[in-house]
Amino acid sequence: MKVWLHVFPKDIWVPAQYGETIWAALRRANIELDSDCGGAGNCGKCKIKVLSVVDPPTKAGQKLLDKDALQEGFRLA
Ligand code: FES
Repeated sequence: MKVWLHVFPKDIWVPAQYGETIWAALRRANIELDSDCGGAGNCGKCKIKVLSVVDPPTKAGQKLLDKDALQEGFRLA
């Protein structure tokens, strides 16, 4: 199963495989996010805002993002 990511402000669409991290899908499309940990969920620098339906945060997201950010739809990529 494939999902599509609409990336702002570049206004481009990036395919992602179900289960793939957004960080990995963006990297494959040559879109770099800040990262000190290479997408391992340790640094919190890959913070993105999900504008559509958002899944519950991962344990890393709960640890690295504050409660207000999580409620606004921010997640780790
Ligand atoms: S890149 Fe470090 S938490 Fe996402």
